[in-house]
Amino acid sequence: MRKSIIIAVLFSSFLGFSQTKTIDQKVDELLKKMTLEEKIGQLNQYTGDNTVTGPLTINNNKQEEIKAGKIGSMLNVIGHQYTRQYQELAMQSRLKIPLLFGLDVIHGYKTTFPLPLAEAATWDLPAIELGARIAATEAAASGIHWTFAPMVDISRDPRWGRVMEGAGEDTYLGSKIAFARVKGFQGKKLGELNSVMACAKHFAAYGLAVGGRDYNSVDLSDRMLWETYLPPFKAAVDAGAATFMNSFNDINGIPATANKYIQRDILKGKWNFKGFVVSDWGSIGEMVAHGYSKDNKEAAFSAINAGSDMDMESNAYRYNLEQLVKEKRVSIATIDDAVKRILRKKFELGLFDDPFKYCNQERQNEALNNLEHTKIAREVAAKSIVLLKNEKNILPLSKETKTIAFIGPMVKPKRINHGFWAVDLKEVDSTYIVSQWEGLQNKIGKSAKLLYAKGCDIEGENKTGFQEAIDIANQSDVVILSIGEAWNMSGEAKSKSNIHLPGVQEDLIKELQKTGKPIVILINAGRPLIFNWTADNMPTIVYTWWLGSEAGNAIADVLFGDYNPSGKLPMTFPRDEGQIPIYYNHFNTGRPSINEDKIYKSAYIDLPNTPKFPFGYGLSYTTFNYSNLKLSKNKMKSSETIEVYVDITNSGKYAGEEVVQLYLQDKFGSVVRPIKELKDFQKIKLEVGETKTIKFTIDNKKLSFYNSKLEFKSEAGDFNIMIGSSSADIRLNSSFELVK
Ligand code: NOJ
Repeated sequence: MRKSIIIAVLFSSFLGFSQTKTIDQKVDELLKKMTLEEKIGQLNQYTGDNTVTGPLTINNNKQEEIKAGKIGSMLNVIGHQYTRQYQELAMQSRLKIPLLFGLDVIHGYKTTFPLPLAEAATWDLPAIELGARIAATEAAASGIHWTFAPMVDISRDPRWGRVMEGAGEDTYLGSKIAFARVKGFQGKKLGELNSVMACAKHFAAYGLAVGGRDYNSVDLSDRMLWETYLPPFKAAVDAGAATFMNSFNDINGIPATANKYIQRDILKGKWNFKGFVVSDWGSIGEMVAHGYSKDNKEAAFSAINAGSDMDMESNAYRYNLEQLVKEKRVSIATIDDAVKRILRKKFELGLFDDPFKYCNQERQNEALNNLEHTKIAREVAAKSIVLLKNEKNILPLSKETKTIAFIGPMVKPKRINHGFWAVDLKEVDSTYIVSQWEGLQNKIGKSAKLLYAKGCDIEGENKTGFQEAIDIANQSDVVILSIGEAWNMSGEAKSKSNIHLPGVQEDLIKELQKTGKPIVILINAGRPLIFNWTADNMPTIVYTWWLGSEAGNAIADVLFGDYNPSGKLPMTFPRDEGQIPIYYNHFNTGRPSINEDKIYKSAYIDLPNTPKFPFGYGLSYTTFNYSNLKLSKNKMKSSETIEVYVDITNSGKYAGEEVVQLYLQDKFGSVVRPIKELKDFQKIKLEVGETKTIKFTIDNKKLSFYNSKLEFKSEAGDFNIMIGSSSADIRLNSSFELVK
């Protein structure tokens, strides 16, 4: 038997835990045995060497510190082997408290799924939950206990590189997806071998970074915080999220890390959150640069008292908390509370019964080579694709097509399909990732001739590849052109001031258009891009985001109609950066842009207010007819509900899925209300000619909002009800009255 296994078996009895005690009792018993230094050790998280996800700070003597019980958790230690090695060090410490291993498992572990923003375009909650489930299964089998996901930040600014990691701009959709992702990561319960702790981040309002610049300040009212930015975090708590991560920004001048109002009063107080809060990477120490704390000691003082339990990579707790306790500026009760929150999770994960429970080579091999995961990744990737234009019905392509020119910088590379947050699995090569070229080859086999030209790079001015692309286009029946932004142009620290299609890619489209061949444009990106000429002049455009390891197969499925696209944009696509922030659920003003008076209105003189592609938009190869909107009544009291019925018919030639969206507008309020707000949706599948009646239920919660006293309440009055295929394509309208 290996030494570590013997340790594990003897381990629980060494600590004196009998099976009949509750976790809280076990935590209390352990706490009594701990010195102050050991307690502070539990609040300390360092990075390992497998991957780098932030600016490295002090080069600590990590191994020795683990043996001395001075570290409670490591991030970026990957795989059954390395996690085992580190855990063995922890087993040499006096109390043998196991380490927690955390990692950014954002859109898959080995099998990668579409970027979270792309996956949000599915509006398919079971599919999203399943994506997280598979990521958790693979990560947990590789020694990981904890993912730093989901990111549930609402954002209305596509310049912000991290929009790729969230669910887009809408609070209702974002909250549903937050819930699904937490459930997916954590599974039935912590401690199961395919479960990892979720971490709702970044608490809070990080998505509002001024100018779309990462790590930047935000400025928002309390009402906006409650109405727009907090609900997805509340949904994460409701789903049982084990942990939270705070954010780099300040809120009302106080950095989130030192913000007692959001961490203690709201999260741990009002929401009764029992898990723990980890700082973001270095966010405690960075309060010095932020101009909030004069040194690391003051930063530690503010952060721990405000409810930040674990210090990721600042070394602020490690070197200052003991002194702060001695000076009585931090109470032992505060330290104990933070330590208990962390120990509780270690018990729930079962690490005190077996600290090596998740480090198992056989299980890792099995989980990382599971063909079912590949199959599901392909399905979710296909569902994430958004068909933006199909004016001449070039799509779906016929399987009889003889010659296809597949052109563009995205066609052949493999790794790029993974997207920004792919886990750096050193021991796994990238052959399993299906490139777009391979996907098309897999689909057509030998039945068609496939020609390739790169055409141009993603960036730069070089047009020397254009001619070759034009030549192969001329020899083909159809051209597929795969362009966009590189996988590493969106993500952390990837904010951009210019989100137009980069380089000479749009020039290449213009040249290929002159061949007169039918052209299908695939746009790969991690954010909404701007491509006005293409959108105005090219009839067939498919938004393929970054779709993960099965990207190639999923794209081919959609191109040839084996999957009928059903994705809907979770974020508004602007016409120009000058419109940002742009979002569908804005307030009207006293001078709305639709005013007849053409001068004195809230508008630009050089651009319409409207977006290029609106929130909720996406086409199908078939068409859907909306009819027969009926309300169970036209007046309701707040204790009642109204049932809304609508018939949806597949009026086209292909079976397909539609996301039926319900928007409400509270016409007048004690505070102004948005022109419309998504309040419900259903994704349904219809065969050709089939009709389904959809039922939505409107209750008082759907009508409530935060008033000027921050009370969540409805107000009597008239409401408009809008049912549509996107936020801008409202097919049916009605109204009702709320009476008190
Ligand atoms: C900083 C990022 O903001 C956060 O989201 C991530 O989880 C940590 N680094 C750890 O990599």
